Amino acid sequence: MEQELSLLPARPVSESQSEMTHMVLPNEANPLGALLGGTLMHWIDLTGALAGHRHAHSLLVTASIDQIDFRIPVQVGEIVILRASVNRAFRTSLEVGVKVWRETLAGDRAHVSSAYLTFVAIDRAFRPHPVPRILPETEEQKRRYQDAGRRREIRQAEIARKKAARSSR
Ligand SMILES: CC(C)(COP(=O)(O)OP(=O)(O)OC[C@H]1O[C@@H](n2cnc3c(N)ncnc32)[C@H](O)[C@@H]1OP(=O)(O)O)[C@@H](O)C(=O)NCCC(=O)NCCS
Repeated sequence: MEQELSLLPARPVSESQSEMTHMVLPNEANPLGALLGGTLMHWIDLTGALAGHRHAHSLLVTASIDQIDFRIPVQVGEIVILRASVNRAFRTSLEVGVKVWRETLAGDRAHVSSAYLTFVAIDRAFRPHPVPRILPETEEQKRRYQDAGRRREIRQAEIARKKAARSSR
């Protein structure tokens, strides 16, 4: 399995880009009629995983989600649009960016949230295995690719810091 995947050619970002659209229902809202943050996080995870699966053609687990800010509330009856794109594939992991908008009944769109998720490709025994490289084509995809490399350095430093803190306890 590992060898098969590592021999696969790089795949363009456009091949795995994914979108999900939802209308917010009352059972997904708080008492003020606004979408619950946890529900939106679930949709972000699912949309990100869709793009990751399409790129890796593999089972995946979510290893981490970077900080998520909710910029504006989304009301019951409004539409939520989530778009996910693989920013960069590393060895066994990949970073997916998910951007979220809300659309009112009048059709006005506004940016709600953005998130970066790291997924790891695993086999059925939960062992990580290599993923195909990603091929950024547009200027925006190339910028996201570069930025993902910088974010990975920050994450790797944090993982190392936590490991060191655990081993010194
Ligand atoms: C994610 C997981 C497979 C990593 O296992 P591990 O033993 O740390 O494996 P490795 O050290 O070989 O790392 C594998 C990859 O995961 C990445 N990784 C591990 N922890 C990470 C984290 N917290 N954030 C981002 N990437 C992480 C590593 O950088 C590595 O990527 P690379 O191969 O592209 O360099 C393991 O921690 C796991 O199964 N976690 C549970 C995932 C899950 O159940 N998620 C659902 C929510 S509960």
